[in-house]
Amino acid sequence: MIEHPTRPLDARAVGADLRRVDGVEKVTGRASYAVEHGAGDDVADPLHLWLVTSTIAKGRVVDVDGSAATAHPGVVAVIDHTSAPRLVDTSNGELAILQDDAVAFRGQIVALVLAETSEAAREGAALVHARYRAEAHEAELREDNATYKPEVVNPSMDTDTDEGDVDAALGEADVVVAQTYRTPYEHNNPLEPHATVARWGEDGGRPTLSMFDSTQGVHGVVQAIAPMLGLEPDQVRVRAPYVGGGFGSKGEAHAHVIATALAARTTGGRPVTLAVTRQQMFSLTGYRTATLSHVRLGARLDGTLTAVEHAVQEQTSAIREFAEQTASPSRMMYAAPNRRTSHRLAQLDVAVPSWMRAPGEMPGMYAQETAMDELAAAVGVDPIELRERNEPQVDPETGKPFHDRRLVECLHRGADRFGWDRRRPAPRSTVDGDWWVGTGVASATYPAMRSPGNAARVRALDGGRYAVAIGAVDIGTGARTVLTQIAADALGVGTDAIELAIADSSLPPASVAGGSSGTSSWGTAIVAAAQQFREDHGDAPDAGVETTASAAANPATEEYAFHSFGAVFAEARVHRWTGEVRVPRMLGVYSVGRIVNPTTARSQLLGGLVMGLSAALFEESYRDSRFGHVVTQDLATYHVASHADVLGIEAEWLEESDEVFTPMGSRGIGEIGIVGTAAAVANATFHATGVRVRDLPLTADHFV
Ligand code: MOS
Repeated sequence: MIEHPTRPLDARAVGADLRRVDGVEKVTGRASYAVEHGAGDDVADPLHLWLVTSTIAKGRVVDVDGSAATAHPGVVAVIDHTSAPRLVDTSNGELAILQDDAVAFRGQIVALVLAETSEAAREGAALVHARYRAEAHEAELREDNATYKPEVVNPSMDTDTDEGDVDAALGEADVVVAQTYRTPYEHNNPLEPHATVARWGEDGGRPTLSMFDSTQGVHGVVQAIAPMLGLEPDQVRVRAPYVGGGFGSKGEAHAHVIATALAARTTGGRPVTLAVTRQQMFSLTGYRTATLSHVRLGARLDGTLTAVEHAVQEQTSAIREFAEQTASPSRMMYAAPNRRTSHRLAQLDVAVPSWMRAPGEMPGMYAQETAMDELAAAVGVDPIELRERNEPQVDPETGKPFHDRRLVECLHRGADRFGWDRRRPAPRSTVDGDWWVGTGVASATYPAMRSPGNAARVRALDGGRYAVAIGAVDIGTGARTVLTQIAADALGVGTDAIELAIADSSLPPASVAGGSSGTSSWGTAIVAAAQQFREDHGDAPDAGVETTASAAANPATEEYAFHSFGAVFAEARVHRWTGEVRVPRMLGVYSVGRIVNPTTARSQLLGGLVMGLSAALFEESYRDSRFGHVVTQDLATYHVASHADVLGIEAEWLEESDEVFTPMGSRGIGEIGIVGTAAAVANATFHATGVRVRDLPLTADHFV
């Protein structure tokens, strides 16, 4: 395939407020989500799958008695580790289910029930009786058991970094802030629970597997499961035309996907459909590990940092390693000659953690930005001024210049708009009736990333129209819309002339809708393909001619560090007698490159801010370490911000275009909204009350 070095776009549709191209399908109910596919999609008359999950945290399955279940008139089969099809590759401990009798966490899949209806499958699952031999388990994250050093930190970062002499610098510092900050377990809860449909077939004597999956990346699912099933990638097709959110939990295939593929292998070609329940999502589809951040900042009296240390303790699972990159933002955020970061894990007998919006940056920046607020108070410097005094000239982590670091402009723009100059510096100095009132600020950052291996196909249609294809998934962010805008500009036509096909692994390869890298990666591939097409075929092509091209790597990444930045402001009111926290005003100002579509971009940034507010005030999964599971297993007990909790909230961005990073000028917006937001709220509660809280969420008991 041709690799094409992209040139900047002539932006016309890019930047305009195109309405969502799939908006009508969605609001009229014609958009089909994974389990809604049927006869028209070659998955008619499916069997329904229900997952039976373990009730012990560690041990062995002695036997699975499915006799009562199979006596149920609707139940077709019960499959356990003795009867499940064998997997060729079992190296992924999360996905290699039903291959032996081992139980590695409570909530692990131990049997599958297939039935004619979803209701019968659920009843059948309740009739399955599994007997276990339990072993002692460890499910509690503590400072004394989080001592294991992972090889690398997700996705491929150094586990530890060490520059200069942090201990000496802390010894000589005028002021030291040394505190531990804690964040709880959090569970991604996209509106659409995880769901998968699978059907096995045959093509030219080779087995084929066709799936609909609620995923953030169709090619990633193929790459994960094909080798496990002994298939070549071209034998597996995964589609995800509509996805109701993911927040990282659909960034990789989880065990339910392989469960559905295995179950469908046994039905003689009949499709199998699985809807994971909300409760099962709390053990099967990933979550953010709890974190402990031991932060030490050393500074001069004027607030200039001389040392930054961020030592992280968190957990992984026994069967698959995942290390949240919690200290990574402390490596690049502020200037300091002496800096040290580390990650240590407890390997627990618990469900496998995974990506959740801004993995690493979210808990890490909560810790660092709260510590910076503590330093501002300790040296008596305004929190915005303190951050300005610690602006680095180059990226402290790589030594490369930033392209483009506009944090200070975000802070100033936000301060103007928020009315920061009216703030009285002393904490606990404003009361309004029964409410303490305060304001807080925090910085935000997120790396700009373009994934390799993306390609797109452009084909000329009749009447000056173009078909543009790439396997990217729109998880509700508006990708379908912005890719249409990018394709239109790249081909020099209006958006009406573009027929975009996405979300199918039979289309040219696309990276995951994650890491805030989707638009950058897929958009660059579309521009590359369009520019190559125009070089090959000109601007008046014959219908039917086509070009497929991939985007060449960006040589500028050798020269520059690419990050986005932002500033988050919050006002908090804390009730004097009950400790209730309300947040009447939030503002985020961002430098994220060019905005491709203001409406969908605002939704991403506001969504991130709301999720950060939610983390600040409510979100906490409570694990009962005696039994090993999370007891908050639904949205009644796992609290997320509702409409009544979100009061004044605004997001804006600096006018800019980073064409050194992508031909569109965009850098990525999916995650930065959640970064720093919990710290801004926490810092506002400190300013309101004088009470410094160092563990999320900011529940009422902290303040009374
Ligand atoms: Mo995001 S947690 O990279 O899907």
